[in-house]
Amino acid sequence: MKLRVLGSAAGGGFPQWNCNCANCDGVRRGTIDARPRTQSSIAVTEDEQDWVLINASPDLLAQIKATPALQPARAVRDSGIAAVLLMDAQIDHVTGLLMLRERGTPLPLYATAQVMADLKDGLNIASALAHYCQLDWREIAPGDHAFSIAPLAHTRFSALTLDSKAPPYSPHRNDPHPGDNIGVTITNTRNGRSAFYAPGLGALSPAVTQAMQAADVLLVDGTFWSADEMIRLGLSAKTAADMGHLPQDGPGGMITTLDSMSAARKILIHINNSNPILREDSAERAVLARHGIEVAHDGMEIDL
Ligand code: MLT
Ligand code: MN
Ligand code: ZN
Repeated sequence: MKLRVLGSAAGGGFPQWNCNCANCDGVRRGTIDARPRTQSSIAVTEDEQDWVLINASPDLLAQIKATPALQPARAVRDSGIAAVLLMDAQIDHVTGLLMLRERGTPLPLYATAQVMADLKDGLNIASALAHYCQLDWREIAPGDHAFSIAPLAHTRFSALTLDSKAPPYSPHRNDPHPGDNIGVTITNTRNGRSAFYAPGLGALSPAVTQAMQAADVLLVDGTFWSADEMIRLGLSAKTAADMGHLPQDGPGGMITTLDSMSAARKILIHINNSNPILREDSAERAVLARHGIEVAHDGMEIDL
């Protein structure tokens, strides 16, 4: 089984279209040692023909262009994307669904009831797509729940409810429910190897810690280096916690958390454009290296 990172940036991407922070301006001008990144999504395959997309990024069409294996060209109209699994209903994770509207058959969409409610009552994506390919919703129930997604016969997905919030646009933004956000363990049933993927992780419940301890590869929330990064840079009034993200630095941060895990690979993903780890030569990046922590980039592949 193989995982491919299609988009490793958080919402807005890197550089973000309207941002002139040192990172965005520097990568745009080519004056810093950093690579551009598209918005958050990974894809899972067993045979490099059929893929399950985890999250559908607003940059999906660019990601498909950058990934020839997603287009196996078996028929005059065809795609390697067999199904989509959603971690939440955030704009950076769902708006790519609209770009799949030309499908000839309804799109199998694995999502919780809370996420589907936001896609119906918040963004109206579900009703819009009813006029195109239609969504074939397969409900993921809250709680630890294992399932498979056709045609991936040797891959098991196990969803885990995360403590976080529905997106800002959601009618139930201030009324959190299990299922607003999930993480997923993806297991290769042929060899038992697994990856835990959670691009948005605000707090670690005992169940999340357990899932992280059990995984061979961790692909987890790398949004912010520090809790007040956006405030200090004058980009936003929100802390990392306000946005449902655990920062890397500081007591109880992601670095300390990852230090206690025995996974063979520890990878940060969903990196915000404000994060100093985007610069390959930054002091913060050197700290990660000392802790054996990698930073995901678009096109990164992980064999499981
Ligand atoms: C988040 O996860 O907090 C998002 O990237 C924010 C957004 O999409 O605007
Ligand atoms: Mn996001
Ligand atoms: Zn920026």
